[in-house]
Amino acid sequence: MLILGIESSCDETGVALVETGAGAVPRLLAHDLHSQIDMHRAYGGVVPELASRDHIRRVLPLTESVLWQAGRALADVDWIAYTRGPGLAGALLVGAGVACAMAAALDKPTLGIHHLEGHLLSPFLSSDPPEFPFVALLVSGGHTQLMRVDGVGRYELLGETIDDAAGEAFDKSAKLLGLGYPGGPALSRLAQQGDAGAFKLPRPLLHSGDLDFSFAGLKTAVLTQARKLGDALESRKADLAASTQAAIVEVLVRKSSMALKQTGLRRLVVAGGVGANALLRQELDAACTAGGVRVHYPELHLCTDNGAMIALAAGMRLQAGLASIGPSDDPSRNPYAFDVRPRWPLAELVS
Ligand code: KG4
Ligand code: ZN
Repeated sequence: MLILGIESSCDETGVALVETGAGAVPRLLAHDLHSQIDMHRAYGGVVPELASRDHIRRVLPLTESVLWQAGRALADVDWIAYTRGPGLAGALLVGAGVACAMAAALDKPTLGIHHLEGHLLSPFLSSDPPEFPFVALLVSGGHTQLMRVDGVGRYELLGETIDDAAGEAFDKSAKLLGLGYPGGPALSRLAQQGDAGAFKLPRPLLHSGDLDFSFAGLKTAVLTQARKLGDALESRKADLAASTQAAIVEVLVRKSSMALKQTGLRRLVVAGGVGANALLRQELDAACTAGGVRVHYPELHLCTDNGAMIALAAGMRLQAGLASIGPSDDPSRNPYAFDVRPRWPLAELVS
């Protein structure tokens, strides 16, 4: 079965084709991506209206490119999957609208996919795919969650951030340091030249005993420190960046280790944009090796948003017999109706 996947929840338009085979993890045939980073950079962050308009411009050329790369025609596609949420409403509507219009024209079914489920399952496309069950650390620009994953659609939330996400902590701290957008990669690049022990920054909720996170206080601490430094900030920026990164990473690693201990599971999956962070990978590798735990990451280029994870999640859902997560799957409804879910807790997916 051939599945076309479309991702348009934020600032990346991603399209991919996967093929499912009996019993095997769906195979990625082709994927293509357009990142809007250059367009949003001038504004210091994502401008939702510009994002939507750019998705409109990119989605069909990307679809053509993916079909061409895979040597397939649109008529060969059996299912069309799209990101139904969470994300920016206007941006989501572009991918959903195009997917559902194509599906109506081709008389094919659609599947609305949860963006975080895409991230969560994305390591299955790596050369070292995980096996269920595992603990998942989901660290993106909008979410920080620890989940117990027993199978496709079998997710139990163990803990999450009570305020900012880890990616947001990277982005906001980077902005305070004048590093621009997107902040995560910029801050981690600068941190390589700094001393992580130079500044004492808070590790919120580190000893709370539960698996929740809080990162909002960190950016205030970074701001206070930057103000204190005044003119000296310029020469200490790399130290402050390194100290900030170390604080975020320490909390993520410690809470992941706690989640593994609490569940008794010996496998960790890391997903979402912050999963591309080199220090996080290094520290998680060290902690997991010490604890006898296997850790799995998505391929580096599939850590941030992409269409491959959406097509993959659709393929794995179909294989698991879990195809109905969108209104378009309900035959009693108008076949042309679709919706998006800008806010959509992953827990609602649980089968
Ligand atoms: O998963 P993602 O692409 O989009 C969302 O679904 O939110 O994650 C984007 C987030 C941003 O906050 C970005 O700054 C962060 O991932 N990020 C990083 C790195 N690469 C991306 N944070 C730290 N280090 C990185 N290398
Ligand atoms: Zn994402």
